[in-house]
Amino acid sequence: MGYQEKTARYYDYFVGKEDLPFFRRLFLKLGGPVLDVGTGTGRVALDLAHAGLEVVGVDKCPYMLEVARQKMERQPPSVKDRLNFTEDDMVNMSLDRTFANVFFGGGSFSHLLSSNEQLRCLYNVYKLLDEGGRLVIDLPAPTGDTLKNRIDVSRSVPLDGDSSLFRTVHTRCDINNQRLVSTVIYERYRGETMQERVLSENVSSIIFPREILLVLASASYKLVDFWGDTSGTGFRSGSKRMIIVAEKN
Ligand SMILES: C[S@@+](CC[C@H](N)C(=O)[O-])C[C@H]1O[C@@H](n2cnc3c(N)ncnc32)[C@H](O)[C@@H]1O
Repeated sequence: MGYQEKTARYYDYFVGKEDLPFFRRLFLKLGGPVLDVGTGTGRVALDLAHAGLEVVGVDKCPYMLEVARQKMERQPPSVKDRLNFTEDDMVNMSLDRTFANVFFGGGSFSHLLSSNEQLRCLYNVYKLLDEGGRLVIDLPAPTGDTLKNRIDVSRSVPLDGDSSLFRTVHTRCDINNQRLVSTVIYERYRGETMQERVLSENVSSIIFPREILLVLASASYKLVDFWGDTSGTGFRSGSKRMIIVAEKN
């Protein structure tokens, strides 16, 4: 099902921003233009453009891109000129240019559900990446909790007027197929009365550390860095994230 018109509009209310300074510093060091794959609402793309980098954001969801483009329109001309959003599937993106660096942020790569899709995507990125360019993939690291079915209720967020928004995420782990099936429910309240209830279902792959390293090696990438958080600590037991930097072999 993926993100729908309403759920795409509510996405930014609950997504964190704590990783932005880390990726801003990283890409300022690596340079632009950056291809932001699975850009969503342009959360990272906009931040990088503010830092002075040219960014192209690709996503297959028109509703997420609509939010990204609306945000882009509100930026000063110099930032707007550095941004471009395009609708495409990350498995076989058809772009007629190459990029200094390619980014899969916020777990976007985990939306590829089979090794076949992951490899096709990485082969394609190989062609889109300049010589010497880096591929950066940010993924959640699997933990004991990943394998449990769970319900996460977020704090409420105030909206315009006297409305507030609640988000509940039901996550079911399908361990045999290495998948997480999440139903995200947004409820908008005015006072005690629910005004609206919308939901989306998202499926993502549980990708293990050795698996992503093997997939990258199979697609002819060489590992450059492997961090376990956004303070640049090396990946180790207990790490919550897998931030991988690779280059063409
Ligand atoms: C969890 S969101 C992350 C968005 C953004 N990177 C961020 O950090 O906020 C994952 C995004 O990947 C997109 N996506 C999933 N599968 C895709 C595919 N095959 N091709 C392109 N985009 C895809 C979804 O539409 C969604 O916008």
